[in-house]
Amino acid sequence: MNILLIGSGGREHALAWKLSQSPKVQKIVALPGSPGIGQYADCRPIGVTDFDKIERTAREIQAGLVVIGPEDPLALGLTDRLQKAGFRVFGPNQAAARLESDKWFSKDLMRQQAVPTADARMFSDPQAAEEYVRHRGTPIVIKATGLAKGKGVTLCYRESDALQAIDQTMRQRVFGDAGAKVVIEEFLTGPECSILAFIDRRNIYLMETSQDHKTIDEGDTGPMTGGMGAYSPTPIVTPQILSQIEREVFVPILDGLVRDGIEYKGVLYAGLMLTASGPKVLEFNCRFGDPETQPLMMRLKSDLLDVMLAVVEGKLDQITLEWDPRPAMCVVASSKGYPGKNRVGDVITGIEQADQMPNVKVFHSGTELKDGQLVTAGGRVLAVTALGDTLRDAQQRCYQAMSLIHFDGMHYRRDIGHRALKNL
Ligand code: AMP
Ligand code: GLY
Repeated sequence: MNILLIGSGGREHALAWKLSQSPKVQKIVALPGSPGIGQYADCRPIGVTDFDKIERTAREIQAGLVVIGPEDPLALGLTDRLQKAGFRVFGPNQAAARLESDKWFSKDLMRQQAVPTADARMFSDPQAAEEYVRHRGTPIVIKATGLAKGKGVTLCYRESDALQAIDQTMRQRVFGDAGAKVVIEEFLTGPECSILAFIDRRNIYLMETSQDHKTIDEGDTGPMTGGMGAYSPTPIVTPQILSQIEREVFVPILDGLVRDGIEYKGVLYAGLMLTASGPKVLEFNCRFGDPETQPLMMRLKSDLLDVMLAVVEGKLDQITLEWDPRPAMCVVASSKGYPGKNRVGDVITGIEQADQMPNVKVFHSGTELKDGQLVTAGGRVLAVTALGDTLRDAQQRCYQAMSLIHFDGMHYRRDIGHRALKNL
């Protein structure tokens, strides 16, 4: 079968790597792909929202399955478009993708279905938002309601921070139109986890647990990023907590979607905080997480194509996933300036050496080839991922591999996994 893969990040590299191991996959074409994805796929310079060219390519290669990695094309309705043209698509349609692309829609659905989440109010008028902040006090959380590449959330400890966040998000539009409206949310505390599930319209199949590290700096400080590292499994999610999350979050959300006539096929990702009063949803994503996918794909033993086809055909109840019991960790290296305006074009060395280490894989997030040299081409540049006998072993392998890699302005956190390792 020929696969059309949409995207170019570390997540898509991990998916391409895993899909390429399936004996049923003949050819993968990636749009636009990356030098990393190019090891397994024919990459073509077509953007992820260039729907006409994407559809044309799907026809040309007679794609048996289209796999959509990032949120933007999902939010813009690429699935709907390709399904109408007769293709099988892994990734939710536009209506279902609102769970991620419209934080107010998802908050509403959570409320209707009594899914535990932070109390919140939405504002389209900055002055009203400011008044609310003055009235509610801090700490408080300000979120752009639209897509902002994981950066649209500001945790505000002082009133002045909150007022500034409202000004930057709503008036100065630093996240573009995604910040026209904000959700102002109760500040929750507790450890976080990412729970991803395959959804085939009726069935839910939870993947292994994972945890992301969202801020740029060590000790979970500094501005939000798309994610600076992740590991799987996370010991904070016991089997009891996991089944509570399935019962209290995934089941009612899927029921709500079905009730509203919305079909969901793909991955649903719940970002949760384990608070003193139980797990609460911080956000939903309508796709695989980045970087959670990198450790998850290192651990998945089953054929990814089989699972994706089961999702598309509504047969998730007929499959069983096998996972490597060993933990995996992933550490992201970012370019100078990220998550603000980042530099590109710095020469990257050492990936090949790092890749040769046993149980280590380097996934490219933002790289390109320029005059035959691999250079940085994005905020997050690469993700070193390793399996280990223990989480500490996986961590040591990641940092050993990372020490072989270099580019100017390279930044990575030295404390990925710190919460779990502290408790071991
Ligand atoms: P989100 O993109 O909504 O998952 O938010 C990004 C990060 O902001 C989360 O991973 C949390 O670390 C933090 N966060 C989001 N919402 C809240 C909240 N209500 N209380 C405390 N921290 C939050
Ligand atoms: N790791 C967070 C995300 O994929 O949005």
